[in-house]
Amino acid sequence: SQGAMGGRGAFILFEGADRCGKSTQCKLLVDGLNSRGVEAELWRYPDRTTAIGKMIDGYLQSQTDMDDACVHLLFSANRWEKRKLMLEKLASGVTLVIDRYGHSGTAFTAAKKQPGLDLEWCKSTDAGLPAPDALIYLEMPVEETLKRDGFGGERYEKTEFQREVVKNYELLRRDAWKCLDASRTIEDLHADALKIAMGAVEECRTGKPLGTLWE
Ligand code: TMP
Ligand code: MG
Repeated sequence: SQGAMGGRGAFILFEGADRCGKSTQCKLLVDGLNSRGVEAELWRYPDRTTAIGKMIDGYLQSQTDMDDACVHLLFSANRWEKRKLMLEKLASGVTLVIDRYGHSGTAFTAAKKQPGLDLEWCKSTDAGLPAPDALIYLEMPVEETLKRDGFGGERYEKTEFQREVVKNYELLRRDAWKCLDASRTIEDLHADALKIAMGAVEECRTGKPLGTLWE
């Protein structure tokens, strides 16, 4: 079935370092879209509910250890295993608002600075996955994210590591990214995100083809 207004749904991606407000904005955006008659769902990566996702969850909570390349491949596989459903949802007219994707995958693994796990290798495992129609990057200095609730206890929630992650996002950054200053109010950010998303929804509804990483 096609969406109520015909055409495919949009893939809206939020990226940024830990604690920059992505999850809050994702929830607000899905509600905002739904209340404007745009059928939208909230997805997140890692999706910790699958068998692969449970392995990732154990790793992030430091219950298990894993080779750095191996866990990178699991994060990537966790996206590939959801690809078919993603494509079906988008084709049926549903807009997907997604909290993290392959950009997190590359920014975080490359931050480990392990031989062989450079940006290009990290990107390669996601090549061919559906590309976002709009990427909203919430930009915030690591010092500012620390002033918020503070990090939780997960594996990557360390100041120095997050600094490397932010540097990698800068290296991945493209002109098409919509970069928003994450220190603005929740309401201001939401207003901008909604405008960006409604633009992408309209483009996709009227025939914009879905791209693939890493275009
Ligand atoms: P979350 O806090 O958004 O649930 O993400 C969990 C952590 O996993 C976060 O520190 C970012 C990291 N991550 C990766 O290292 N690789 C990936 O591919 C993804 C999606 C997240
Ligand atoms: Mg987290």
